[in-house]
Parts: sequence; C-alpha cells; structure tokens
Amino acid sequence: MRRRKAPPAAVVDPAVQVGPLQLPGPIVAASGTFGHGDEVARSCDPTALGAVTAKSLAAYEWPGNPAPRLHPAPGGGMLNSVGLQGPGVAHWVDAELPALRRCGARVIASIWGRTVGEFDEAARLLAPAAAELVAVEINVSCPNLEDRARVFAHDPDATRAVVNAVVARGLGLPILAKLSPNTSELLEVARAAIDAGADALTLVNTVVAFAVDPNTRLPVLGAGNGGLSGPPIKPVALRAVHDVTRALPGVAVLGTGGVNSGLDAVEMLMAGASAVGVGTATFRDPRAAVRIHDELLAWCAAHGVTRVADLTGCLEEGDV
Ligand SMILES: Cc1cc2nc3c(=O)[nH]c(=O)nc-3n(C[C@H](O)[C@H](O)[C@H](O)COP(=O)(O)O)c2cc1C
Repeated sequence: MRRRKAPPAAVVDPAVQVGPLQLPGPIVAASGTFGHGDEVARSCDPTALGAVTAKSLAAYEWPGNPAPRLHPAPGGGMLNSVGLQGPGVAHWVDAELPALRRCGARVIASIWGRTVGEFDEAARLLAPAAAELVAVEINVSCPNLEDRARVFAHDPDATRAVVNAVVARGLGLPILAKLSPNTSELLEVARAAIDAGADALTLVNTVVAFAVDPNTRLPVLGAGNGGLSGPPIKPVALRAVHDVTRALPGVAVLGTGGVNSGLDAVEMLMAGASAVGVGTATFRDPRAAVRIHDELLAWCAAHGVTRVADLTGCLEEGDV
C-alpha cells in the first residue's frame, strides 16, 4: 500500500472524541463500504482516518440478497440491496481482521442479527478480538424475526433489547448503535439505545428505496427494495443528526450519509456530529475518505478553526 504524503503544517488539530471513543481524525469509513479486510485499505491509507468500520457481520455466514444488488440513483446516489452478505464473525476475526490491522487501521467491528439472541452470539464471538478493535457498532437496521420482521431500529423496545444484550457481554469497548432514518420514532429509538448502554450513535443507515425497470417491467433490484445512499441522503442524515443531538444533549453522534467533500463534513459536524462517516463516496473513489479528511482540515485552516472538534454543534440558530 502506498502511504500518502502528509498534508502541510499541522495547524489544525484533527482529533475528535465520539463519546468515550478517542479518534486521531474525524473521518470514519462507513460499514459495508470499505470491505471486510484490507481490500480498500490497499489503495486508501487507513492510518489517515479516524477509524475504519468493517462490514456488518452476523454470528454465521450469510449469503446476502439475489442479484442485481447495485443500481445508480439520481443525483449521484446509489441503491444497494447487498443484504449483509458476510463470512460470519469468527471467520472475519481469523481471516480478515488481521490484514486490516496490518494496514494500521483502527477498526470498528459491526454486528447484526435477526433475533436478540443472534446479536448476543455475534458479540460473544467478537470477544476474542476485542483487543484488536477500537469499538463495536451494532447495526440494528435489520429485520427482527421475533416481531414479524419489523426492523429493530424502528422499535425502541427491540433496540433496547439488542443494545442491552451486547452491553451485557462486557467487551470492554465503546458501543455505537447505528440507527435507521426510516422511522418516525428516531428520537425514541435513539433514547432507548442510550438508556440501554450505547456510548454513542451512528446516524444514519441507508434510506429505504425502490427502482423500476420500464423495459422489463420488473423491479431493478433482485430483492425489490434497496437502500439509497450518497449525496441525495445528505439532508436526511443532517436532519437526523441535528434532531437527535438537540433532543439528547451530550449524546455523541457519528454523522453518516451523503458526505462527499470536506464541506459536507463541516456541515455534518456543525449539525451536531462528533465525527463523520464516509460510505458511498468510497465506491466512486477508493481514496475519497482521505481526500475528505484533507479538505476538511484545509477548510478549518482557511476559517481560523484550530480544532476540528470545535465544529461539533456550532450551528448558530435560535429556538427553531
Ligand atoms: C453497498 C453498501 C453496503 C452497506 N453495508 C452496510 C453494512 O453492512 N452495515 C451497515 O451498518 N451499513 C451498511 N451500509 C450503509 C453505510 O454504512 C452508510 O450508513 C450509508 O450508506 C450512508 O452513508 P453514505 O451516503 O456515505 O454511503 C452500506 C451501504 C452501501 C452503499
């Protein structure tokens, strides 16, 4: 892997803190967009990032959804229905995590499940790797088989139960709950996750969406619905970050959704995020996360901001 040239004169302190998670930089690769192991890290120096979130893993190998799984969306967006394909936690810990760590990445593991028990099992399997991780993200944007496949993250009680189970495993790592924007109960779900012991929130996962092929008269994606990501969802993510951080002062948020430039990252921080996730931008350009980091620091330098952390929630607004 080619290490990038360090940007000139470190006049801006890039360090941020997401709850108890201290990161040397504000940009975090978002789950599912930076591979399982060192695939992307071979072209994008992960040491320049605050952390890398690995693709979500279940307690078992999971095949994901039928093809097609990816489709372009208007405005530079992307639709995906990958469906959480993955090798399972134990295989990842043995076969993929070491390569990512060798690249110098600070790794956030991400787990998912279809029952509370499956989340618990995924957390149990992660325990032997805890020393190699900086945090665990719980992806609650998946269907709960014990409640008619209702998405955990759309239900405060289900979210509370999952976070409780993972916290009870005592991994000794900061825990982030990654929430869905596809609910009118976002604030209640966010509160439930924090009450159950999550140290911080990641906002947001993809926006549920659909595409039609007029020629075949079929849905474009093999799974029917998919998740919209990239620039079109930036306002959705900003809204979620802003609402949650205003309603729950003191709760740290990793703001994710549609960030494609340093300026986008500035907006996310000002809206209330403590750090910024970058996902879809990496598919267009594997080095996007580092570019966004450099652009953000350049913006700070040009605007007399000496600490990136000072941008968090600095939006000037009255009682809107
Ligand atoms: C192809 C693809 C796969 C994804 N896989 C996951 C995943 O495994 N777990 C997860 O929590 N989020 C997953 N996401 C969601 C992203 O982590 C991120 O929350 C979302 O895409 C919004 O950020 P973006 O607009 O910067 O991509 C995935 C997104 C994409 C585009």
